[in-house]
Amino acid sequence: MNNEEHFKNVISHSKEYGFIFPSSEIYDGLSAVYDYGSYGVELKNNIRSYWWKSMVQLHENIVGIDSAIFMHPTIWKASGHVDAFNDPLIDNKDSKKRYRADNLIEDYLAKQADKIEKEVDKAKKRFGEKFDEALYRSTNPRIKEIQSGIETVYSRFKKAMEDSDLTELRQLIIDCEIVCPISGTKNWTDVRQFNLMFSTSMGAMEESSNLLYLRPETAQGIFVNFLNVQKTTRMKIPFGIAQTGKAFRNEIVARQFIFRMREFEQMEMQFFVQPGAELEWYEYWKNKRLAWHHSLGFPAAKYRFKDHTKLAHYANAASDIEFEFPFGFKELEGIHSRTDFDLKSHEKYSGKKLQYFDPELNSSYVPYVVETSIGLDRTVLAILSQSLVTEKLEDGTERAVMNIPHFLAPVKVGVLPLVKKDGLPEKAMEIFNSLKWHTYCQYDEKDSIGKRYRRQDAIGTPYCITIDHQTLEDNTVTIRDRDTMKQERVNVAEMENIVMKKVDVTEALKRL
Ligand code: GAP
Repeated sequence: MNNEEHFKNVISHSKEYGFIFPSSEIYDGLSAVYDYGSYGVELKNNIRSYWWKSMVQLHENIVGIDSAIFMHPTIWKASGHVDAFNDPLIDNKDSKKRYRADNLIEDYLAKQADKIEKEVDKAKKRFGEKFDEALYRSTNPRIKEIQSGIETVYSRFKKAMEDSDLTELRQLIIDCEIVCPISGTKNWTDVRQFNLMFSTSMGAMEESSNLLYLRPETAQGIFVNFLNVQKTTRMKIPFGIAQTGKAFRNEIVARQFIFRMREFEQMEMQFFVQPGAELEWYEYWKNKRLAWHHSLGFPAAKYRFKDHTKLAHYANAASDIEFEFPFGFKELEGIHSRTDFDLKSHEKYSGKKLQYFDPELNSSYVPYVVETSIGLDRTVLAILSQSLVTEKLEDGTERAVMNIPHFLAPVKVGVLPLVKKDGLPEKAMEIFNSLKWHTYCQYDEKDSIGKRYRRQDAIGTPYCITIDHQTLEDNTVTIRDRDTMKQERVNVAEMENIVMKKVDVTEALKRL
């Protein structure tokens, strides 16, 4: 299965097994909005809780909040979102389809890079073992030509984005002869800036004074509560405030399933530090957050940092943690050194002081901020796309299995009576009722035991406890391991300890 097929498989598996549904499906859906099903919501809750525990519970100097989605509209003026939270858009006059100009150019560059890989693959097959890939890449005239084209376009693109030069962005689209994927023509409009915030109005009157925005990031709720939290928790700098919650962006090119949504969830933490200490803390949080991702147990090569060359208006350093999704390496989390921009700007617009009195320095200052901001839905997608595998079994059949990290799995234990008679369901319910206090279990007695194992594999349940006739005789059950499919017979009294050790989030937190 190639990457494209794998990605399609992830989307259809997510729907078929109750992880993610398109929103409003019976009304033909709502573009780039999704609902989480019964297993999706468990996975999402588990990831959120793992993040929360790792940030708030494990750090004596990080506390949480839950601020409202609706906020005073001036907040978005102060944060820069009203003036600068824009995407460059271009329309094709024939198909009437709208695109992000930067995405069109990025896709063009990716296609050129693909051409190089295809040339290399062809040569590999042609020359066999004698093939010197590095030499071929550096000397083959066709590859050199494509590579030099990529470099020229990339440097023009980078400069146009840095200068917000919309005319040059359009010119690049023309020069690269990029065509609309729908109409196949190059009949493009000018490039325009488009603000990504959704707006609505508060109260009965639709006057502009009542205009509100749906928050495009959760971070501003933290900034405007900075002093409330600092005073009520008596935190001393350096300290952090964490929050998880919904954010909304009117993404124009909404694609790649739950990668780019219009309503999504963020898990953000703002860490307040002394001015001048921010870059040290920025490095600290970069490493800390990468370690968190590695703790999920996927190959380390699936993650990489991408430092920003074009910094946002508020940052003096920024890096993304990228994950290799089936459609390539893309941003999963951002770590930003936001300076004192936000707090200073809120001081200016609100007229209120947002300063911290530092007893060690015996003076007040506006703290600098290092932010970690991870998308919850993107983390779900990373886990689903990395976990789902189709295995060929010895008997020639296939099984779809989700190798979700045990402590994040939606259902931790399946409790299955071998047959639906002879007192086995009653014994299985007894075991279910004792286990359910400790972890999320599922009781299932429908269909053959083989089918039930497959169902649990497909939703990523790490362990199945099977209750059979021997259970009634000697109080033992079998524990089936999702990954190896091996079964071990143990005493019911030991079973809880064995399973809980393996699925407990505390063990994962200790590894951080
Ligand atoms: N407060 C900083 C901030 O919002 P961002 O890089 O724009 O920074 C942070 O967003 C994270 O939120 C991203 O790394 C991504 O995981 C997630 N995210 C952003 N836009 C998203 C979208 N449209 N759909 C899903 N997740 C998104």
